[in-house]
Amino acid sequence: MKTNNFLGRDWIDAEIDYSKEEWETLIDVALELKRRHALRDDQSAILKGKTLFTMFFNQSLRTRSTFAAGIQQLGGFHVDLEPGKTYTPARKGYDIPYQTERIKDVAEMLDRVGDAIAIRMYGPPAMWRYGFANATMKEFAQFAGIPIINMECDKFHPTQALADMITVKEKFGTFKGLNLTMSFAYSGSIEKPRAVPQSVILAATKMGMNVTLAHPEGYELDQKIIDQCQAFSKQTDGSFKIINNFDEGFKGAHIVYPKAWGAHTCFNYADENGKVFQEADHTEAKRVNEAAKDWRTTAKQMALVDKQGIYMHCLPADRSQEVDDDVIDGPRSVVIDEAENRLHAHKAIMAMIMGGRL
Ligand code: CP
Repeated sequence: MKTNNFLGRDWIDAEIDYSKEEWETLIDVALELKRRHALRDDQSAILKGKTLFTMFFNQSLRTRSTFAAGIQQLGGFHVDLEPGKTYTPARKGYDIPYQTERIKDVAEMLDRVGDAIAIRMYGPPAMWRYGFANATMKEFAQFAGIPIINMECDKFHPTQALADMITVKEKFGTFKGLNLTMSFAYSGSIEKPRAVPQSVILAATKMGMNVTLAHPEGYELDQKIIDQCQAFSKQTDGSFKIINNFDEGFKGAHIVYPKAWGAHTCFNYADENGKVFQEADHTEAKRVNEAAKDWRTTAKQMALVDKQGIYMHCLPADRSQEVDDDVIDGPRSVVIDEAENRLHAHKAIMAMIMGGRL
């Protein structure tokens, strides 16, 4: 267990920037905090007097409630800076007089006052421009000395992935030899970020699982992330493959994670200077989405998984579209465990990077 290397670090591209050993440490710390929480141990000395700023550019139930509860349980405070009620932080080149405030000024001010800034941004606040929200978080990190925590951007949802790995560890006790399938599932909404599938396949290959990514044509993920998954699976002696067949992904899986994300054509793509070189094509995004209506998890698919197999979803789920009620409410579903583990994951991250005394 390596515990001395966390203090002051950002948690933005965490599946890439933190080592396997560091992920294992965070999983251990989270499970220890969960155990102590169950025993009603007082944990309020861990981050006593520390302040977490949160900024949600998008809606949230789980992330918002568990960060707020988590910092309170660790003895700290939570200040929710609502973009739009405060001046909306803006990157250089995206200023609007008296509506926005340059990120440099926001970050440098908050750095003087608190101990970490946690941000959620994807979709409309980032103009559905793939990578814009991730770059926004990195601009905060450039100007704030205190840690920046990614609560979901357009590329990654690393706090969700950590909670998911904690859940897998609880259910199976190991990562080695487990078959995990991250699958596309149909939703009536064509605009959804890719953050969860990308983070889950990165974290699962990093931890050494045998990972299958299943999706219809048109739903390809970021090629750089696919390349990174291939590299992780080689390092850990796991495996990684991509298939275009829904049922195939369920066969023999220990973990299935069927979840909707946006088609490749639902995003705008821009170069480093912000110049858009490929605009979203919603006609094409709708066409591939309608063609994928049968990518819905039913009892028929769940009959194909390993006899110990579990159903995962980050929630919120689009019931009767992504999944049938009898699956998500059934005995193999661990979705509420995953949601609870967001609390323990966030407490572990905050305790380690904000200087907690465990
Ligand atoms: N899974 C997840 O991030 O949930 P919320 O959108 O409710 O925060």
